[in-house]
Amino acid sequence: MTTQLPIDQAIDLEHGMISREIFVSPEYHRAELDKLFTRAWLFIGHESQIPRPGDFYVSRMGEESVILCRDAQGAVHVFLNSCRHRGMKVCRYEQGNTSLFVCPYHSWSYTTDGKLQGVPLYRVLYENTLKREEWSLIEVPKLALYKGTVWASWDPLAPEFLEYLGGAVDHLDQVLDCRDGRPGGSEVIGVHKWIFPANWKFAAENFLGDTYHNPSHRSVDMIGINPSAQRGVKGRRDNEYNRGQHVWVGFPQGHGMHSVLMPPDLQYEPSYQQYPVVEEYFRHCFEERKRRLGDKARLLPFVGNLFPNASYHGRQPRGICVWHPHSPTETEAWRFFLVDADAPAEVKDVLRRFYMRYSGPAGMTEQDDMENWLYATAASKGTIARRYPFNYQMSMGAYKTNDPVPGDVATQITEQTPRNFYRVYASYLNGGDWDALIGRNRAPVQVAAE
Ligand code: FES
Ligand SMILES: [Fe+2]
Repeated sequence: MTTQLPIDQAIDLEHGMISREIFVSPEYHRAELDKLFTRAWLFIGHESQIPRPGDFYVSRMGEESVILCRDAQGAVHVFLNSCRHRGMKVCRYEQGNTSLFVCPYHSWSYTTDGKLQGVPLYRVLYENTLKREEWSLIEVPKLALYKGTVWASWDPLAPEFLEYLGGAVDHLDQVLDCRDGRPGGSEVIGVHKWIFPANWKFAAENFLGDTYHNPSHRSVDMIGINPSAQRGVKGRRDNEYNRGQHVWVGFPQGHGMHSVLMPPDLQYEPSYQQYPVVEEYFRHCFEERKRRLGDKARLLPFVGNLFPNASYHGRQPRGICVWHPHSPTETEAWRFFLVDADAPAEVKDVLRRFYMRYSGPAGMTEQDDMENWLYATAASKGTIARRYPFNYQMSMGAYKTNDPVPGDVATQITEQTPRNFYRVYASYLNGGDWDALIGRNRAPVQVAAE
C-alpha cells in the first residue's frame, strides 16, 4: 500500500517541480475522479451529432458513460448511462435514434427526456410503492451549448460555462467559428476513439503549448504531410502562421493555449496549391474573415487545452480531443474532427484525409506524441523513478499580463501554462471553492519578461 504524497508537496510551483506520483499513483487517479471530474465543465459532444429528435450519442464524463440525447421536443440532455433499477447500461450503442431507452436487464424504459416510462408488471409488483416520477435517469445539473459544442458539469454550483471559460473563449471561438468568420457553423465529420497506456495529463500538457517537443516530429516535418507539401515546402500543417507572433497564454481557470497573433497586414499564405477548389475556398474564407473580424482576425489558434481534458487543434487539423482517464496509466482518447458544415464536399474530403494522416491512432504526428507519453509514463512507475520529480522550470517568470493578448502571456516557449494548469489542479484536489477554482478574485500577477 503506497501512501499518497500530499498534493501541496507533490506540486511545488515555487521551484517548478512536480512529483511523478500524480502521473502514476492510483490514489491520485481516484482523487481526480472524485474531486475534479465531478466538478469541472467537461466536453460531451457536438450538436451536429444529434440533429434530430430522438438522436443520441454516448459519451463519457471521467470514468462514466453518459448519453447525450435530443428529446422529442428538441431539447438537449446529458444522462448518466445507468439504469435506476440495478445500474445496467440503458444504452449500449455508440449512437443512433430512439424514442425509448429500454434497459436490457429487466426492461424498465425511459423516454428521451429521461423519464421512467415502462416498468414491466407495474400494477402487480409496484403499484402504490414505486413513484415513477422519482426514478428518472440521472441528469447532469449543468449543461451548456456553445456554438454547437455541448458541455456539462456534475456540480450544481459550478459557474456558468462562459464564466468558466473566461478569456479562453476568444481562442475557442477561432476553433468553432466558420473559417470565413461567421460565428459557429462547424460540424463533426468523424470521431476517432482509442486507448493508450499513458496518464491523461501528458496529453493535456501537450496541448497547453508544449512547442518544445517539436524535435519529436522531425520525421513528419521532413516528409511533409501537410496539404501544401511539395518540393521545398515541407511540414506538418498549412503555412498561415509563418509571419505571426507566437504566444503561450494561461487563464486563471487553468486553461492554456498556444496561439499566434498575426501582424496587422494579415496576408493569405497559399497552403493547398495541389487542390485548386480547396485553395480557392480557404483564400475566400481568409479574406472574408478579415473583412468580418477586422483586427480580431489577427488571432489564430494553434493548440490549447480547456481545463481539464478538452484539447483542441484550432486550424489544421481542426478538432477537439478529449482525454478520458481509465487508470493512472491508461487513457481513452476521443478526437472529434471539425469542418465548416457548409464547406464544399471536396474541401471536406481533402481535410478528412489530412486529419487522418496527422491525427488519431494511425495519424503520424499523434503517434510521435503518444510514443513520448507512454514511455514517459512507463519509465515513471518504478520505485526509484518515483522519488524524482519532473522539471517545470522553463521560462519561469518570463510572462506578462495582457500583452500582446489578454491573459498571462509568454512570447517565448514556456512551461507557464502547465504550471498554471497544476495550480488549478491542486486547487480542485484540495476541494477549493469556485472562487478559487476559476480565480474570481485573483489579482493579476505582473511579471516582467525582460
Ligand atoms: S437494471 Fe435496468 S431494469 Fe433492472
Ligand atoms: Fe506533438
